[in-house]
Amino acid sequence: MKTRITELFGIQHPIIQGGMHYVGFAELAAAVANAGGLGLITGLTQKTPELLAKEIARCREMTDKPFGVNLTFLPAFTAPPYPEYIAAIVEGGVKAVETAGRSPEAYMPALKAAGIKVIHKCTSVRHALKAERIGCDAVSVDGFECGGHPGEDDVPNMILLPRAAEELKIPFVASGGMADGRSLVAALALGADGMNMGTRFIATQEAPVHANVKNAIVAASELDTRLIMRSLRNTERVINNSGVERLIEIEREKGDALKIEDILDQVAGIYPKVMTEGDMEAGAWSCGMVAGLINDVPTVKELIDRIMAQADQLITARLAGMLKG
Ligand SMILES: Cc1cc2nc3c(=O)[nH]c(=O)nc-3n(C[C@H](O)[C@H](O)[C@H](O)COP(=O)(O)O)c2cc1C
Repeated sequence: MKTRITELFGIQHPIIQGGMHYVGFAELAAAVANAGGLGLITGLTQKTPELLAKEIARCREMTDKPFGVNLTFLPAFTAPPYPEYIAAIVEGGVKAVETAGRSPEAYMPALKAAGIKVIHKCTSVRHALKAERIGCDAVSVDGFECGGHPGEDDVPNMILLPRAAEELKIPFVASGGMADGRSLVAALALGADGMNMGTRFIATQEAPVHANVKNAIVAASELDTRLIMRSLRNTERVINNSGVERLIEIEREKGDALKIEDILDQVAGIYPKVMTEGDMEAGAWSCGMVAGLINDVPTVKELIDRIMAQADQLITARLAGMLKG
């Protein structure tokens, strides 16, 4: 399949693996790259720019295909040293960066000077248009269904994607709720040039996380995620567990007076406990409603080949067949 996204990134299939904290290590990024998609190392999971440089080098040993790095601009009190992270990306010869969180505007000159293609992940048409204006090459449009931070507008992809298509000139991928060939064909029909998946890629053989995490995603239905931190305007979609239930109780007690300090036990330092140790009750970790569509743990290649075969079948047989009647 050839789309503006496959052309932009020099990949075989229009499928991107979104940045994921404590999941997006070299093993997963390389597996996605080797299967013909765009795999991404999650920059800030590497605690220093030096460690990111090593992770990029490790990924390069596992694949000769293009891969990228996710750089998430956090609403943090002490910002990570982003210029140094970008230097590690540039020096590592990486040619694709997914930015997310805040606008990447301040860092665009450095990224563009190095010939890096920038895809900014955002949750609204206005932020997508801003990304286009500041020179991003593409956007990843993250609907309300998505795992992670869906923003505060609550517009699902069935509306958000065609709205993005109406307004944008640069290509975009659909993100949030994407799992299979049906998702890909729907995304293309709504105007996207590909899709970005997070949660689906965690439940793969190569995702370097504890088996408990993969099993939890397979076991979860579309009803098992919760939205947290709404009153802090930092909404996150997470899988429900006892830590999250406690967090929601605290949110109810505190109401609009909630401060991040009140819920630190449930949100700080949770990822290593969940992803590395497999402690599934530790607290909040991102997961999409798409968990309801995930029922197995294939290899990344099996997953991507299956998606492309199903998309082909849907377009050439099911949809084309409907026109012949
Ligand atoms: C466990 C997990 C961790 C994530 N961490 C990040 C992150 O650090 N930075 C980021 O930009 N997006 C992050 N995301 C969002 C994904 O990149 C992607 O946009 C999202 O998962 C898409 O929705 P889906 O899960 O329905 O596929 C994370 C998602 C998950 C499930």
